[in-house]
Amino acid sequence: MEFHVYESARAACEAAGVLIAAQITRKGDSVLGLATGSTPIPAYEMLVQWWERGVIDFDKIRTFNLDEYVGIDQKNPMSYHAFMQEHLFSKVNLRPENTNLPSGRSVTACTAYDEKIRAAGGIDIQLLGIGRNGHIGFNEPADEFTYGTHIVTLAQDTIEANARFFRSADEVPRQAISMGIGNIMAARCVVLVATGENKAQAVYDTICGPITPHVPASILQLHPCCVILADRDASKLMRK
Ligand code: GLP
Repeated sequence: MEFHVYESARAACEAAGVLIAAQITRKGDSVLGLATGSTPIPAYEMLVQWWERGVIDFDKIRTFNLDEYVGIDQKNPMSYHAFMQEHLFSKVNLRPENTNLPSGRSVTACTAYDEKIRAAGGIDIQLLGIGRNGHIGFNEPADEFTYGTHIVTLAQDTIEANARFFRSADEVPRQAISMGIGNIMAARCVVLVATGENKAQAVYDTICGPITPHVPASILQLHPCCVILADRDASKLMRK
């Protein structure tokens, strides 16, 4: 596990954009694992800028997102489908048929998503944010790790954290469909970005704590190619 600290949140996020752009440069038909949340937005902005300048090309790139809420329409502006359209898909030359987000609430929908990732040859680079409670994707703290794509009941802490994107906490969907820990661990390289003081405990527990499903991101200690990029605030417990 590599850990890099940046002076600003924006620099930490842009560094993630650098790693993704490098992957696209090295392998033009890469499979990208993408994330939503406020953290990755500057990384997407960098990718859009480099595409506009002709530095990178998305023509043969395929993407798989980590997660989506259950029970909201894909056109709902709060959906992760809409988020990805707004921040990346509509702004670069990604082919719509090459972009994938999980959807549905059935076991069949979950296994179909896992199968599609496998059929694409697996994920080359997986971008991750992290929840205040150490969740990755929507893998919430639990008594055991979940391997594949699955339906999750969101933790109260996640509902409260994500309420800022909705009019109130009552509007936050209670369930989501998420890649599992197995999907994330199978990615060839993982880049996790954490910014802000409210992520400091999660960062510390992820890197220095025991590997436990109660801190889902702690499993990344076992990943052979995992880079954690954090700003000063998110890494403040690491400097004790
Ligand atoms: C959501 C997403 C996660 C994301 C997390 C943190 O719950 N499912 O993938 O990492 O929020 O979001 P933010 O970056 O806005 O703090």
